[in-house]
Amino acid sequence: MPIFTEARLRSVTALIVRRMGSDATETEIVADHLVRANLAGHDSHGVGMLPAYIRLLHDGLLVPNQTPETVLDFGALLVLDARRGYGQRMTTMSVARAIERARETGACVLGMRNASHIGRVGTYGEQAVAAGMAFIGYVNVADHHDIAAPWGCAEPRLGTNPFVTAVPGAEGPVLLDMATTTIAAGKARVARNKGVPVPDGCLIDAAGAPTNDPTPFIDDHVGALTAFGRHKGSGLAVMCEIMAGAVAGGQRAGEAYKGGILNSMFAVVIDLARMSGAAAALAGVEATKAHIRSSLVAPGFGEILLPGEPERRSAAARRAEGIPVDERSWEQIREAAGTLGITEAELERANA
Ligand SMILES: NC(=O)c1ccc[n+]([C@@H]2O[C@H](COP(=O)([O-])OP(=O)(O)OC[C@H]3O[C@@H](n4cnc5c(N)ncnc54)[C@H](O)[C@@H]3O)[C@@H](O)[C@H]2O)c1
Repeated sequence: MPIFTEARLRSVTALIVRRMGSDATETEIVADHLVRANLAGHDSHGVGMLPAYIRLLHDGLLVPNQTPETVLDFGALLVLDARRGYGQRMTTMSVARAIERARETGACVLGMRNASHIGRVGTYGEQAVAAGMAFIGYVNVADHHDIAAPWGCAEPRLGTNPFVTAVPGAEGPVLLDMATTTIAAGKARVARNKGVPVPDGCLIDAAGAPTNDPTPFIDDHVGALTAFGRHKGSGLAVMCEIMAGAVAGGQRAGEAYKGGILNSMFAVVIDLARMSGAAAALAGVEATKAHIRSSLVAPGFGEILLPGEPERRSAAARRAEGIPVDERSWEQIREAAGTLGITEAELERANA
């Protein structure tokens, strides 16, 4: 399996994104986002997404160098239409505007519509936390076919609809960042590429029966991912769909499909300096963490972790030991880069 240093993976990614037509700023944002997703251990949302992005570009469904259009700017309410722009840049820009607004009004309720795939949503929670904010994001995913089965459904009716909440913590953000399916779709793709089964309870087949084989799901769009946490997780998935679609105005699941992978987001950005005082909020977060960590460790667990810790540990390990990219994903990246006219020699130079 090829192992990349962070710098080399950034350089290879930047070469590809630049050749897709992005300006220098967008290239930097997208490459930074994808490599940080790999560092966090979420290979499903890292550089392995590049072939999909290149396909979307060729099909005119991802628009480089886009600017979010203001649909509504009314007090604490901000609604922006990303118009199929590169999700990483559109969301970074939208959240930056929401942060600016929250500094004036104490909080901002952001609706961001119709960005191309926005990647690892936790990144935007980190962006808000770095500015002293708390962040809540409900995201839906509109794709040409639904892939997630809500509780009680034998057929897919939703996307993998991620949910994020982030607050500052002393060691880094406490960051819950998760698909509302038992596993993210990209994790089924990574399992399929590695030739390994997905864990029990993640996937159903065409008849709605449990299966561990990701290949028919990835290759032929057969079956569905299950919602996590029975009716409760499924309910959160439904609310992500409703808040990002019906409330924020993004494309809805089941609506006449407009093409591409579109993410819309309903987010709340809260200025902690105004709401509770930054120091008091941090002290409260730390006290809560300490209280949870004071528990006896349950049988079968080595330790108690809090949301965001596994990703921080992965990033530290991968910075030290390198970032593995599985053979098939690397081959797919090279093939897709070839469709942009990037030669093997260029890729090798970027990776040198
Ligand atoms: N853009 C999109 O359309 C889209 C769709 C779905 C998912 N995603 C992204 O996919 C990524 C992966 O999602 P996932 O659901 O597979 O994540 P996951 O299941 O690996 O982690 C989910 C959350 O649980 C926490 N966690 C993990 N292990 C833990 C432990 N042992 N103790 C305590 N907390 C723990 C993590 O810190 C994280 O906050 C996310 O970054 C998400 O934003 C994006």
